[in-house]
Amino acid sequence: MHSLPPTLSPARLPALLQAMPKAELHIHIEGSLEPELIFALAQRNGVSLPYADVEALRSAYAFTNLQSFLDIYYAGASVLIQEQDFYDMAQAYFVKAAADNVVHAELFFDPQTHTARGVSMETVINGLHRACVDAEKELGVSASLIMCFLRHLSEKEAFETLEQALPYRDKIIGIGLDSGEVGNPPEKFARVFARCRELGLRLVAHAGEEGPPEYIWTALDVLKVERIDHGVQAIKDAALMQRLAKDRIALTVCPLSNLKLCVFPDLAQHNLRQLLDAGLAATVNSDDPAYFGGYMNANFTQTFAAVGMDAHHAYTLARNSFEASFIDDAGKSRYIDRLNDCFEGFRR
Ligand code: ADE
Ligand code: ZN
Repeated sequence: MHSLPPTLSPARLPALLQAMPKAELHIHIEGSLEPELIFALAQRNGVSLPYADVEALRSAYAFTNLQSFLDIYYAGASVLIQEQDFYDMAQAYFVKAAADNVVHAELFFDPQTHTARGVSMETVINGLHRACVDAEKELGVSASLIMCFLRHLSEKEAFETLEQALPYRDKIIGIGLDSGEVGNPPEKFARVFARCRELGLRLVAHAGEEGPPEYIWTALDVLKVERIDHGVQAIKDAALMQRLAKDRIALTVCPLSNLKLCVFPDLAQHNLRQLLDAGLAATVNSDDPAYFGGYMNANFTQTFAAVGMDAHHAYTLARNSFEASFIDDAGKSRYIDRLNDCFEGFRR
């Protein structure tokens, strides 16, 4: 672990959390659509929304569980029609990410939400990919795309989605699995994930957000994923905790999401610190920041204050984010050097 002065005053912790370079590995780009942009795109595309205005939409953001959020989230995505809409959404996210010193981001997207409405795969991927290219050029944020299958739909539909995406294979780094977890276990997608693996795509899956530890086991052993998205329910299974620690399987934890979806009753009871202290490769992420009230640094600062973590935890989390990313080894080393330089600056 990086050595820090024991004297780093707690008052400087928020500045350190803000300044340290970090990677975001769990962001659904459709979950970065702010109400203002939803209304602007609705007007641009002539889509009518069941909310009178931005305030009415925002006031509907009172969720009781994952499904209560997903219903509103899929409705919000209905304003995305043209390639430029996907570009504008991702570009707005990158500007916010850069302000939080996110230097690398791996973006989830849900093509089935769009193709079901007649929007082509080409439109979705080209708009998002162009935003990723420009983020690197204009903001210095490197970025890649992870295509998610909606787990409430069938494996057959996932195969059809994969087929539609194959012409754009070079614009996608990996495959994920999201949407309603309980009742849709990872093994439902065993064959399509095996095919994605043969194609050389990197694999991740949401597991153990609301669902049981068994779903984390099958995500690892049946789907053969490299990271677990959320994974906070692992704490209920000691053997699973040991497995995750031993194999350095990263968990992309999203504290404000867990709070807003009532996975934990309050942030002080979030288990991020326990996961880290048990030696798991946890990371901090924003999930759907426009809906959950905070981007990366809001997740870091509010969680650190609530659970009492320090600068050592900050270093571990940022370092984990680079090590768990799908960047090549040389790129990882460059980012970790930048992280070390940042911490050096705080030693003085
Ligand atoms: N899609 C967008 N956000 C999600 C979450 N937190 N869990 C599952 N699917 C999602
Ligand atoms: Zn998620």
